[in-house]
Amino acid sequence: MKTILILGASSDIAKAAALRFAQEKFNVILAGRDIQNLKIEAKDLSIRHSVEVKAAEFDALKFKSHSAFYSALKISPDVVLCAVGILGDQTRSEENFDHAKLIIDTNYTGCVSILNIIAEDFKNKKSGTIIGISSVAGDRGRQSNYTYGSAKAAFSSYLSGLRNRLYKSGVHVITVKPGFVRTRMTEGMKLPGLLTADPSQAAGDIYRAWKKGKNEIYTRWFWKYIMRIIIHIPEGIFKKLNL
Ligand SMILES: NC(=O)c1ccc[n+]([C@@H]2O[C@H](COP(=O)([O-])OP(=O)(O)OC[C@H]3O[C@@H](n4cnc5c(N)ncnc54)[C@H](OP(=O)(O)O)[C@@H]3O)[C@@H](O)[C@H]2O)c1
Repeated sequence: MKTILILGASSDIAKAAALRFAQEKFNVILAGRDIQNLKIEAKDLSIRHSVEVKAAEFDALKFKSHSAFYSALKISPDVVLCAVGILGDQTRSEENFDHAKLIIDTNYTGCVSILNIIAEDFKNKKSGTIIGISSVAGDRGRQSNYTYGSAKAAFSSYLSGLRNRLYKSGVHVITVKPGFVRTRMTEGMKLPGLLTADPSQAAGDIYRAWKKGKNEIYTRWFWKYIMRIIIHIPEGIFKKLNL
């Protein structure tokens, strides 16, 4: 039986992914900050799907703890899904560098810290898949969320380089770029209904991407075409838009 380690397991997308992988008979390790809740969810998931589910405490910002966290798992997972992220407040990040740093460290530095450790393990055993949740926001900087977007751009670039480096070692890396998804992160925002996915749709796309060995996916699929248009708007026009 395969095991998936989910980092940022209390995320709505991650919860839906945990359910999907458990339905496909994966054992699951739920890792995140809220260990009490994760333990309850682990028990529930395990009973409902007859798979082994464990909870482990993980904070992406406690870089120095990452090595001990991973060693303490005792087993090396087959798949890792990194769903850690915060949107933060763009205006606040412009005025207060500590807030900008929190956004960058949560979405990028913390993920690099733990995934470097996991990548080394996967490289040594010559197998495994690393799935990183980045964002369409990383495809082009916009005034409304460019601190978050720039951290996601860095994360997409990191995942691309990691995929390139580990290919010859038999390790696969998947970049997931969600558009709008109805989760705690987007709660209270006015989202365009037709363009907005449910976490279960994103989770289905993630599972299929793993199954088919995809390199990069947009979820939902149509975001690939939306972003292609956005990327190709000439900078002279783009800078005048209110995006
Ligand atoms: N929703 C969207 O429209 C959308 C679009 C594009 C990309 N994404 C990306 O999708 C991923 C999942 O987000 P979501 O939409 O499911 O939102 P969410 O429910 O708010 O999930 C965010 C997750 O990140 C975790 N996290 C934050 N800081 C952390 C830290 N220091 N250490 C460990 N975990 C930490 C949160 O844990 P706590 O419960 O402990 O806070 C939570 O599990 C994120 O990477 C997000 O950027 C979402």
